[in-house]
Amino acid sequence: MLSIYEKLSQKVDVWRAEGAEMLKNNGNFKVSDVTVSQIYGGMRGVISLLCDTSEVPNDKGLIIRGTPLKELTQKSPEEIFYLLLTGDLPNQEELEEFSSHIRNNKEVPGYVWDVLRALPADTHPMVMLDTAILCMQRESVFAKKYDEGMKKNDYWKYTLEDAFNLIGRLPGIAAGIYRMRFNKGDLIAPVADMDLTGDYVHMIGMEDAPKGFYELMKLFLVLHSDHEAGNVSALTTVVVNSALSDLYYSVSAGLNGLAGPLHGLANQECIKWIVDTVDKFNGTPTKEQISDYVTETLKSGKVIPGYGHAVLRIVDPRFEAFLEFGKKYCSENPIFQTVVQTFEVVPDILKQIEKIKDPWPNVDAGSGALLYHYGFKELSYYTVLFALSRVLGLSAQAVVNRAKLKPITRPKSVPYSWLVEKVKSSS
Ligand SMILES: CC(C)(COP(=O)(O)OP(=O)(O)OC[C@H]1O[C@@H](n2cnc3c(N)ncnc32)[C@H](O)[C@@H]1OP(=O)(O)O)[C@@H](O)C(=O)NCCC(=O)NCCS
Repeated sequence: MLSIYEKLSQKVDVWRAEGAEMLKNNGNFKVSDVTVSQIYGGMRGVISLLCDTSEVPNDKGLIIRGTPLKELTQKSPEEIFYLLLTGDLPNQEELEEFSSHIRNNKEVPGYVWDVLRALPADTHPMVMLDTAILCMQRESVFAKKYDEGMKKNDYWKYTLEDAFNLIGRLPGIAAGIYRMRFNKGDLIAPVADMDLTGDYVHMIGMEDAPKGFYELMKLFLVLHSDHEAGNVSALTTVVVNSALSDLYYSVSAGLNGLAGPLHGLANQECIKWIVDTVDKFNGTPTKEQISDYVTETLKSGKVIPGYGHAVLRIVDPRFEAFLEFGKKYCSENPIFQTVVQTFEVVPDILKQIEKIKDPWPNVDAGSGALLYHYGFKELSYYTVLFALSRVLGLSAQAVVNRAKLKPITRPKSVPYSWLVEKVKSSS
């Protein structure tokens, strides 16, 4: 059996050879044109990034290393991280060796708790998470090796080492933030040989939660792990990492983007909207009541959280996976029932609004209701869970980019006057 470092070393040689050949033979091949609408529209659809960990075709949804998400929902986050990094699912022996790198790094440095305790009591949990990650930058092996003059060829190895350190510690940090921020009692220490999901459930103090909670957490950590490189959190991480900033700087920057309401914070917004709906109608609302409430929300100038997507044009397969879980474990819960009813009502309403390109639910439309069902009612915490999973993809992308010797990211910007001249001169 090859260790993860040996296995990746072999892959890295192949990736570099493929890249060199592609550039040599096709360096000037034109892949796409960019329109003025795309420049004004957040670069939507502009093909300008290479990302092998996952792809998101707009009519299929998430595909991780060639395998559609639907076929991966029973896997563990450790297996998914291995797949994201290498392109293969691990066998039992490989998984054991790989997981040991994460398990051996569970201890959170004491100063992290001191920093978090010094923050005001009403600090958003995402600020706590980002602060914790950033203040651990002094742990970066990549930064230390860089100062010692490491060779470019080896950048990926120390980025991977940082990834193991970070991913090993994050469940403890995320659990600690939950207990600290919401007065759930003392911090709970990790258990050395527990898997990532089990240890997280243990450290938030929910080992006795009703049946299915462990499975939900495992699914949650898998479903949010990666979504190609163009979304706000991934792109930010890619850009910051390309300056040879280490993983602590890069991931914490990316997660600041995840904390925006149009991105990862949408799960918090969405469950708020669903709970408000249930409160307003004293229980599971009828479809007519939901329809009225959707119209009221739209009229007030707000978006319907959990619906729409910058890329997808179908029901997000991640939403479908959560829906399937809910039908199995909490079909009687009014909050979950409201999610189901909303799904039956909202797309038809959004389809009538011409400017909306995707009327379908995204991953955030259903996840919160399931957390809520298990008594996880601290809504501002939900994005931390999203982050805990997304760090797998952000880290894997960083390792692969280092392996492929990706240079600093530097697209070109132009002023308005340049656009005017360009349009004028071509007419
Ligand atoms: C995800 C999202 C940001 C994608 O944005 P986008 O790529 O600009 O989407 P579109 O091109 O379809 O948007 C066109 C218009 O429709 C609006 N729109 C899109 N989704 C909408 C929704 N769920 N409710 C109301 N309006 C919506 C946009 O706000 C935009 O309006 P504007 O031109 O007045 O600014 C957007 O769909 C959204 O805000 N959804 C709700 C938040 C959410 O669930 N985010 C999580 C994403 S995983």
